[in-house]
Amino acid sequence: MITSATQSSDTQSYRVDLGARSYDIHIEAGCLDTIGAAMQPLFSAPARCMVVSNETIAPLYLDRVEASLSAAGWRCSCCILPDGEQFKTMASFATILDSLMDARLSRNEPVIALGGGVVGDMTGFAAACYRRGIPFIQIPTTLLAQVDSSVGGKTAINHPHGKNMIGAFYQPKLVWIDPQVLHTLEPRQLRAGLAEAIKYGLIRDVGLFVWMAAHLQAALQLDTAALAEVIHSSCRHKAEVVMADETEQGNRALLNLGHTFGHAIEAMTHYTRYLHGEAVALGTLMAARLSEQLGYAPAGTEAQIHACYSAANLPTDIPEFPADAWLDAMGHDKKNVGSRIRYVLLHAIGDAFVGEDVPPQAVRRMIASYQADR
Ligand code: NAD
Ligand code: GLY
Repeated sequence: MITSATQSSDTQSYRVDLGARSYDIHIEAGCLDTIGAAMQPLFSAPARCMVVSNETIAPLYLDRVEASLSAAGWRCSCCILPDGEQFKTMASFATILDSLMDARLSRNEPVIALGGGVVGDMTGFAAACYRRGIPFIQIPTTLLAQVDSSVGGKTAINHPHGKNMIGAFYQPKLVWIDPQVLHTLEPRQLRAGLAEAIKYGLIRDVGLFVWMAAHLQAALQLDTAALAEVIHSSCRHKAEVVMADETEQGNRALLNLGHTFGHAIEAMTHYTRYLHGEAVALGTLMAARLSEQLGYAPAGTEAQIHACYSAANLPTDIPEFPADAWLDAMGHDKKNVGSRIRYVLLHAIGDAFVGEDVPPQAVRRMIASYQADR
């Protein structure tokens, strides 16, 4: 069950109830300056901690986080990584572990991820492995990380054979979200994050999809109330899904709507042409078209989603590759069971399901239909 204690319309806490692994998601403008005090109740006494960030985010926000930590009695060291998905590697993972070793953090001293999904995923994985697991705190600084990656405990690094191929489920002890940090985020990154927020509406809440479509411009212009609602509703949905299926044995897979095709797009374009959220948007259009062509979703479903993405200025042109290249790239998807590719499909907007037996010919027909559109 999600419990929430509202202090004001844009300040809220949600409890992610996972027994011994339960934690709070706290959302509050300006809360970057209070992280030190917020961590106190989670530990018997403030001691050492380490902040992991990157070369872009640290100059913007590390001072404030360090000041808040030291005001609350924490002795803090830092590990600053190069910026970019191309550094979500074994080498960066080793750098974090080396820093933790050098700082001699003990088993109950926390590591804090200050950054987007890349920093958060890598730091979480290092926290899971160092001394077989130390406490881990997420301070997500991109919209994508605030609405998705910081919640739920998926941690990972990439391998040349595939994205996020090495990782663990390892829940944070606290997710501390300050929407104000989004003011320094590039607009393109904001749009990519919005695609992941729209996803919750598409999967399980048609009302949210309609609301998102109506408030896209306000959110992109960083309107405080609109942005707060985007983050709150996303965290609420993500927490509900994770509480029902922490390790993706069932319905958590629905959060991967658009990801089977999206990951293939990222791989085929060598992770350079599209941001993750952009690739997910393109993949979602393909999943919607496949759902329509298989007779699961009513005609017009893809068009409705297309209109929403266009209004958010997300890419909507499906890149052209041979069908064999698509199927080969999707063969590496983590959701696959044996050689069977599993697709997240739609019965309607707000009602997603996992399609286990989609014939490859149907996927080829869907891909060919984009060729015909060009
Ligand atoms: P990112 O972490 O690369 O951040 C995007 C860019 O924004 C980077 O250049 C970063 O330095 C910069 N940045 C971050 N915060 C900023 C701020 N406040 N101001 C200015 N610049 C800022 O990318 P992302 O979109 O946050 O995350 C993508 C990653 O998340 C991928 O690796 C993906 O696999 C992962 N992911 C994980 C999950 C999960 O459940 N764990 C879910 C979705 C995505
Ligand atoms: N972003 C997908 C998940 O957390 O399951």
